[in-house]
Amino acid sequence: MASSPFDWIDEQARQRERAGLVRTLRPRPAESGLLDLAGNDYLGLTRHPEVTAGAADAARRWGGGATGSRLVTGSTELHAELEHELAAFCGFEAALVLSSGYAANLAAVTALAPHGSLVVSDAGNHASLIDGCRLARGTTQVVPHRDPDAVRKALAAHEGPAVVVTDSVFSVDGDAAPLRGLAAVCRQAGAGLVVDDAHGLGVLGAGGRGAARAAGLAGSADTVVTVTLSKSLGSQGGAVLGPARVVDHLVNAARTLIFDTGLAPAAAGAALAALRVLRREPERSARVRAVASELHELLTDEGHSAVRPDAAVVSVRAPSPEAAVRWAADCRAAGLAVGCFRPPSVPDGVSRLRLTARADLTGAQIADAVHVISRTAP
Ligand SMILES: Cc1ncc(COP(=O)(O)O)c(C=O)c1O
Repeated sequence: MASSPFDWIDEQARQRERAGLVRTLRPRPAESGLLDLAGNDYLGLTRHPEVTAGAADAARRWGGGATGSRLVTGSTELHAELEHELAAFCGFEAALVLSSGYAANLAAVTALAPHGSLVVSDAGNHASLIDGCRLARGTTQVVPHRDPDAVRKALAAHEGPAVVVTDSVFSVDGDAAPLRGLAAVCRQAGAGLVVDDAHGLGVLGAGGRGAARAAGLAGSADTVVTVTLSKSLGSQGGAVLGPARVVDHLVNAARTLIFDTGLAPAAAGAALAALRVLRREPERSARVRAVASELHELLTDEGHSAVRPDAAVVSVRAPSPEAAVRWAADCRAAGLAVGCFRPPSVPDGVSRLRLTARADLTGAQIADAVHVISRTAP
């Protein structure tokens, strides 16, 4: 039989199958009946009536799409309003909204790492920061996880512009970056600090104003923060927050802004409505942290190996990729949706169940979730 140009795909598929690493899409119904500890709707806002009304009103007023790049027709007054309120809420001079948190990370890292520059990147960073490093013209040095001293050494060996990039809360284990220590070594070396606060916005800092605010870095001249609008704000999209001159630079230099259609108005409207709910109800951020701590405590009491959460993500170790997949499937069969992280998504090769706390979970739901996890444990 003649060979096809895609035969190699079948061999890769067989290898994945043998390693227990096959991924599949599972479209969910609008009402699944599952208790959801897998999504990232940390504050329980995605179906909040003000958030869905924000989306619907924006779509009716501005249309189903932004109609063009932000630099052509894709910047509406709604985008400008969202940028203004996001920057003010998080304590930065300016903000720039992009079509996803992924695009925001590519924008920030590539635009701030020109030829001859150094990017120092934590080994546990999210794939979108890693991809930003891959696309940047500067040289990337990966340093051990949460290690300001390694960052200091990397910076000391370089002359010229440099940025340090880190997640604020790492998405696999939910542990926090040592932001104060990183900021100190950055200042000493004259380097910029780029913090991906995807898991910190809405959860950390006073009233959910984010990890940079919690670390006293909001509004500083050498700190840039990226956020997603798709987790705590229950919508879709991303943003870069920082000094106005950095945002102006991104408008001129960031390819994921220039060559991408602006964020859909419905997403901007939903995010803006969610931000206003959060500003009015700051207790949501304290509640999600309390739920995460309770989940961790109950799971540990039951003998599970769970990482103490610094934000909303609770990670529970599984003995193998196959056991993790089976465990997650058994949870699902028992009415509980949990995330399942396994190689190659986890660089250390350790498979985990990944649970996400939500501000709207009740005590009974937390107890049910822990009961199901224990009952189905490998
Ligand atoms: C740490 C981190 N950064 C960036 C992103 C990307 O954000 P978005 O989904 O808005 O593209 C995610 C997850 O989605 C994330 O977990």
